[in-house]
Amino acid sequence: MQIFGVDIGGSGIKGAPVDLDKGDLTQERCKVLTPHPATPDGVADGVKEVVEHFGWTGPVGLTFPGVVTGGATIRTAANVDKSWIDKDAGALFAERLGGLPVTVVNDADAAGVAEMHFGAGQGRKGTVILLTFGTGIGSALFVNGILVPNTELGHLELNGHDAEKKASSKAKEDGELTWEHWAHRVQKYLAHVEMLFSPELFIIGGGVSRKADKFLHFIEDIKAEIVPAQLQNNAGIVGAAMHAAGDD
Ligand code: BGC
Repeated sequence: MQIFGVDIGGSGIKGAPVDLDKGDLTQERCKVLTPHPATPDGVADGVKEVVEHFGWTGPVGLTFPGVVTGGATIRTAANVDKSWIDKDAGALFAERLGGLPVTVVNDADAAGVAEMHFGAGQGRKGTVILLTFGTGIGSALFVNGILVPNTELGHLELNGHDAEKKASSKAKEDGELTWEHWAHRVQKYLAHVEMLFSPELFIIGGGVSRKADKFLHFIEDIKAEIVPAQLQNNAGIVGAAMHAAGDD
């Protein structure tokens, strides 16, 4: 079965049809830049452009970089326009896509579900935490393969700061930090998450998962196994489609 997946991020809106049996895109994905400010209207237009690029007329699963409750209502908007808060994103996207059936799920939860089924978390029991390092830090917590949604561990306090402000990959870029300096912050962050949840496995996702060789060796003294995500930048798209299919 195929469902269209869209991953809405702080910098880009990416989408493609997904083959749910393989956990892979069936065509090269299409990406448009996330508008700034990332208002509901602007983002919905970007989503429409991506979906129309493929002439898609079936169900669409979308991710959102904030807390999503009650099916498709947005509750937080750390890195997008605050007017998203309390918005029924499902209704907005369905209207903009001419009535196509849509679902909405947190972006890190979507990436986590995809990694657990098709990537680095396959068959892993116990507590597994996927963390995505990008514009913010997203988290997906699994206990024996079951997702505990909307954990928002990127907003834990780290040295008196919102952790994602110090340890996201945007923080690395903005501060022009070396890999070693940034990894030191990530290490402190992981130690804090480990103190709270004692996971067996950390999966490191987001764009940095492709550059694991540049920083993972700087991370020491963490008891859990640490591995890079395998689906890399497509995990959100695949997970969004899985959520729409009810496969998570
Ligand atoms: C948001 C999360 C999101 C993460 C990654 C955070 O700022 O609060 O919901 O998963 O960024 O996009």
